[in-house]
Amino acid sequence: MSWSEYFEKIKNRPVRKLLLNALREVSEDMPKTAIELGSGPGIDTLHLLNEGWSVTAVEKESQGIQMLKAQLSPEQNSKLDIVESEFENLINLPKASLVYSALSLPFCKADAFPQFWKVIDSSFGEKCVFATNFFGPEDDWVKNGMCTGHTKEQIREMLKSFPTIKFAEDKEMGKTATGPDKFWHVYHVIAIR
Ligand SMILES: C[S@@+](CC[C@H](N)C(=O)[O-])C[C@H]1O[C@@H](n2cnc3c(N)ncnc32)[C@H](O)[C@@H]1O
Repeated sequence: MSWSEYFEKIKNRPVRKLLLNALREVSEDMPKTAIELGSGPGIDTLHLLNEGWSVTAVEKESQGIQMLKAQLSPEQNSKLDIVESEFENLINLPKASLVYSALSLPFCKADAFPQFWKVIDSSFGEKCVFATNFFGPEDDWVKNGMCTGHTKEQIREMLKSFPTIKFAEDKEMGKTATGPDKFWHVYHVIAIR
């Protein structure tokens, strides 16, 4: 699978429920500053911009970045900072009230994940909503070494500065956007502080 194929397949998908659910947890006194990690073709970043957020979007694929840029009004453009980088090479991030990443963190290489996590952790604002997916150890792409997995206990440890953590877990055979079916073990996590 190439990311280009993936972007073409999903470019008209609706805004992800994970993001809509995360936005319900944001309180009025939080600055509207968001980060999206692995923004792909930018559907969810665009939604945040439409909702009045300033967004830092991190993505390694220039095609995804171009697809996002092509949809921006000048005003949206002025509220967006695009960081073209691999997670493995990211040195810092700004502070944000909303840190969001759908189906992307598991693609950071396992040996680079602890340093990447330090960078993510440093971006959490004092009041913050963090919404993301992790893959669990039973996921086919974790088992074959393509992705980095985490157990629920590891996730809880990483998120110990968040008093509230909402977890949902999928474990099922299911479709991929561009290849054969696989076993998905996915955590949907929304952490709030
Ligand atoms: C499964 S896609 C999800 C895209 C988007 N978040 C969505 O929900 O449609 C994973 C995204 O992470 C990006 N990605 C994969 N590995 C990456 C890495 N090592 N560093 C930065 N981005 C990466 C891909 O280019 C892709 O945009």
